[in-house]
Amino acid sequence: MSPTAAGHGEILLSAAAFEGIRALLKCKTGIHLEENSDSMILSRLSSRVRRQRLPDFDAYLAHVRSEAGAQELVQMINALTTNTTRFFREPGHFDLLETDVLPNLIEKAKRGARIRLWSAACASGEEAYGIAALVLQNFPDARDFDIRILGTDIDTHMLQRAKAGIYPKKSISGVPDRFGDIMFEPDGGDGKLHIRQRLKDMTTFRYLNFVDPWPVRGPFQVIFCRNVAIYMAPDTQSRIWQGLENVLDQEGALFIGHSERISPDLALQLELFGPTSFRRPLSFIGQNANQKERGDVTT
Ligand SMILES: C[S@@+](CC[C@H](N)C(=O)[O-])C[C@H]1O[C@@H](n2cnc3c(N)ncnc32)[C@H](O)[C@@H]1O
Repeated sequence: MSPTAAGHGEILLSAAAFEGIRALLKCKTGIHLEENSDSMILSRLSSRVRRQRLPDFDAYLAHVRSEAGAQELVQMINALTTNTTRFFREPGHFDLLETDVLPNLIEKAKRGARIRLWSAACASGEEAYGIAALVLQNFPDARDFDIRILGTDIDTHMLQRAKAGIYPKKSISGVPDRFGDIMFEPDGGDGKLHIRQRLKDMTTFRYLNFVDPWPVRGPFQVIFCRNVAIYMAPDTQSRIWQGLENVLDQEGALFIGHSERISPDLALQLELFGPTSFRRPLSFIGQNANQKERGDVTT
């Protein structure tokens, strides 16, 4: 961005404010904004600056850096995260989950095992509810066993929407027909899709910021962490992949976004079993059995 101020309505974004906001976002979330992201900052944050009745982005930056601006910092982060998602996005992962992973987990659950599936960076919850629907479709009695789905995100607005479980009608376009009845209440007349209570009962949504200590310990038998690392710098990505590996069950499965790559240094611990789908090599499971017994503090 040029050092001169850029105009957008009445709000001015100086080069210094732009760099300051970029650095603050990276520090608080790990999100790396490109050098040409000034128009994104202007379009997403100008209304926040106005709402705070501040004259420009320099004043806004000073505010969100101050103790008094802690609440506004949360809103700034909410505004700058990209929350694009949809039901059954990258559907091959759901197919693999159903054919290669769930049958074994269902058997384990029937024998009394604790089964945890995590949608990490769940945005407005479609991914987590899709996983819950798949579990219920394949195991209608799931709620009588110790199976739970956890959805986490940094964006507090998204978490509210996820908990509410109400979506626009057009969201149904990605939902395979066989899941329609399992997932949604009959039309309540408000023109929206309402997630059924039985899916909500199996699903918990919590705040989790990947760059802060994680309030989960696992082990998770399934982790979906898709389309979030792509927004991070390589060092943050590596820490996320390592953190996920730490909480992945010995026989767990990790699904990442189709345009993402795990760190090369995890090549010994994780191997592909489908497109952007990982689990531990058999040799690794044998060596490390019994070393990952942990309790999960979140669900
Ligand atoms: C593009 S959405 C991905 C949603 C879903 N996983 C999918 O693939 O459809 C990325 C999500 O990552 C979340 N996110 C960004 N930075 C994060 C961080 N540091 N910790 C946790 N979540 C973060 C955003 O709030 C956003 O909801």
